[in-house]
Order: sequence, then structure tokens, then C-alpha cells
Amino acid sequence: MIVSKSGVHEAAVLSQIMQNSFSKDFGECWSVADMPAALSLPHCHARLGHSQTGLAIGFSLFRQVADEAELLLIAVLPAHQNSGFGAQLLLDAMAVCKSLGATRMFLEVRDGNERAAALYQRHGYVPVGRRDKYYRGTNGLFYDAITLKLAL
Ligand SMILES: CC(C)(COP(=O)(O)OP(=O)(O)OC[C@H]1O[C@@H](n2cnc3c(N)ncnc32)[C@H](O)[C@@H]1OP(=O)(O)O)[C@@H](O)C(=O)NCCC(=O)NCCS
Repeated sequence: MIVSKSGVHEAAVLSQIMQNSFSKDFGECWSVADMPAALSLPHCHARLGHSQTGLAIGFSLFRQVADEAELLLIAVLPAHQNSGFGAQLLLDAMAVCKSLGATRMFLEVRDGNERAAALYQRHGYVPVGRRDKYYRGTNGLFYDAITLKLAL
């Protein structure tokens, strides 16, 4: 996968990957309107992953201010998951944040999102907090978020 800088001009591509990757059940997915709004914010960065044939298959979205970074979203299309692309996107986002001066990175993961939690733990993220009922699912149920942290 080839990963490169993205931005508001590719908001629709990122939104499509997001909508096709996240389960609709748990309320982790943003609305389509949220994406261009986030990408327009200062300090917000996106990185898009393409296959060798040019197909957009995954992205990361993160915020970096001074020495602190936060991973906001990361997603890989289901057909391309479990091939190491999520790890590649995560490492790429961490490297960009570090190059911009961040010394620590935070993220939130839904309690129960085992696939994402495994990815983060494998790269050294440790739990530092819990946000009760952070996500609201389409079924009306609430799900906690675990806050993870990594020293870059
Ligand atoms: C999280 C996500 C980005 C990972 O992408 P990916 O390309 O599948 O990631 P990788 O292939 O690099 O690694 C996945 C790891 O999870 C493991 N895994 C897969 N399914 C799992 C499960 N149900 N439980 C635990 N671990 C699991 C894989 O074995 C792999 O670990 P390994 O390399 O040690 O074998 C992808 O699953 C995704 O887009 N999910 C939907 C969106 C989402 O939840 N994003 C995170 C919250 S912002």
C-alpha cells in the first residue's frame, strides 16, 4: 500500500472508506458532513492508502498540536483488512506526528472493538482511561471508550 498526504479535496473518498469499514451498530462512524469539517480544521491531518493499482483502501485521520497528537479515525476497507495495512497506516500516522513535534499520542477505542484494540496494543499503546457511554449505537445502547496512550 502506498500512503500519502490527503486533505479536504479527498473528503468524499475518506468518507466512503469510513462508511464501508465501520460497523453501523456502535456509533463510532462519523457523519459524511463531519469529514470535510474535520479536514478543514487547523492541525488536522489525513493520510490515504492506495493499492498498487490506485484503489483507495484505507486512511488515517489525526490531530497534532505541539507535543500532543490524537488519532481520530483509522479505517481499512473490509476486503483489505488483516493484511497489515492498518498497522502500516498507524505507523505512518505516528511517524508524521513525531516529525511534527509530538512526543505522545492518544486515541479512543470502543470497548469491544477487539480488532482495533489488538492493533493498538501490538504497537505499544496502553490504556490510561475509560469514558463511560462514549459511543451511542444505532440500537440506542451506549458503549464505553478506552483511552490509550503511546510515547512516540
Ligand atoms: C482496525 C483496522 C483499521 C485494522 O486494519 P487491518 O488492516 O485489518 O489491520 P492489520 O492487518 O494491520 O492488523 C489487524 C490485527 O488484528 C488481528 N485481529 C483481526 N481480527 C481480530 C479479532 N476479532 N480480535 C482480535 N484481533 C483480531 C489480526 O490478527 C491482526 O493482528 P496480527 O497482525 O498480530 O495478526 C480495521 O479492522 C478497520 O478498518 N476496522 C473498522 C474501523 C475501526 O474500527 N477503526 C478503529 C477505530 S477508529
